[in-house]
Amino acid sequence: MARLNTYMGHFFYLLVILALSISLKQCFALPEKTTSALFIFGDSTVDPGNNNYINTTVDMRADWKPYGQNGFFKAPTGRFSDGRVIVDFIAEYAKLPIIPPFYQSSADFTNGVNFASGGAGVLPHSNQGLVVDLQTQLKNFEEVQKSLTEKLGEVEAKELLSEAVYFISVGSNDYLAGYLGDPKMQEYYVPEVYVGMVIGNLTNAIQVLYEKGARKFGFLSLSPLGCLPVMRALNPKASEGGCFEAASGLALAHNNALNAVLTSLEQLLKGFKYCNSEFYAWLDDRISNPSNYGFKEGVTACCGTGPYGGVYSCGGKRKPTEYQLCDNVDDYVWWDSFHPTDRIHEQIAKTLWKNGPSVGPYNLEDLFFNKEKLTIADTVDASDGERFQ
Ligand SMILES: *[C@@H]1O[C@H](CO)[C@@H](O)[C@H](O)[C@H]1NC(C)=O
Ligand SMILES: *[C@@H]1O[C@H](CO)[C@@H](O)[C@H](O)[C@H]1NC(C)=O
Repeated sequence: MARLNTYMGHFFYLLVILALSISLKQCFALPEKTTSALFIFGDSTVDPGNNNYINTTVDMRADWKPYGQNGFFKAPTGRFSDGRVIVDFIAEYAKLPIIPPFYQSSADFTNGVNFASGGAGVLPHSNQGLVVDLQTQLKNFEEVQKSLTEKLGEVEAKELLSEAVYFISVGSNDYLAGYLGDPKMQEYYVPEVYVGMVIGNLTNAIQVLYEKGARKFGFLSLSPLGCLPVMRALNPKASEGGCFEAASGLALAHNNALNAVLTSLEQLLKGFKYCNSEFYAWLDDRISNPSNYGFKEGVTACCGTGPYGGVYSCGGKRKPTEYQLCDNVDDYVWWDSFHPTDRIHEQIAKTLWKNGPSVGPYNLEDLFFNKEKLTIADTVDASDGERFQ
């Protein structure tokens, strides 16, 4: 009898372990938590129309035809593209709705907010008074954080913000308008010092977001800025038809410095994860070898006028008003004098989403769908580690 009891006891014990291990599995592995929010900061590469709502000039806006002509959106939205921009594709791959502009106050912000403003730089000085600079975008984020906390409660808001992906695409305007377009700045600062200032302020912005609970970051680094049709047309050695070397040099220096900063932030900030790419080389390749990627024209803009379509007149609302529009935008790398086509946006979004060449250390899919398993230690840390103001 005693032996039977022991036997039954063992059997019961086994059942308990089995049940426990099943429920543990459910706790830690089964519900692959997916990210439900995307927050976006930056310039015209990702602006969904914030500049429609601010006091600015036509140079910083794009809410007229033929912008948006591919019809994905019913009418021009203010995106500096013939259709979508990179973050619209990323939202789609992440199974999120289109992320609304911050200044569209009627919008639902529970899947994230897009704070980006065309023409914005890291430094307030860049296009000052005409754009929402990065520091102001961070202040706007703080407002959203407060309202989400009111709406969802502290615990749920905190979880949403720590699971969210923060996508940042900024810097071009600090070099184009802020430095090359401003002789005073070139007088005050040698290029290395200026790049250091931009990167220093960008690093601060990343740390501010981290302190507010952000953990997962995506970056679009700078393109070969000297090869923008507008810069090619302004090239002092224009007769050579090449890119404006000084602009591309600043972009390269910026990207190298950003890579170094991100590598060290990954060491310093617990739980900091990011996705970056060699966007400079990626776009340079399409500019130089368009036919390898399904394009016909890598140099001249589809919409604009003058050499390379480098005069920023697309749509006839700026000065000069004269402009030409190409027949088949899908053949083109460049949509207007400054901005790539919807098709380029789609290709780079796909590259960042899956492991395209030189994407890392995480790709965006990893970040959104938490490919890496959480350890028990991470779970414990996440619940008591961070503070929220
Ligand atoms: C908008 O900008 C113009 C030109 O700079 C200025 O005269 C006007 O007062 C501004 N309006 C607002 C509401 O800020
Ligand atoms: C941020 O930019 C300002 C100029 O706007 C500069 O004076 C300051 O040194 C920069 N900060 C860092 C940390 O680089």
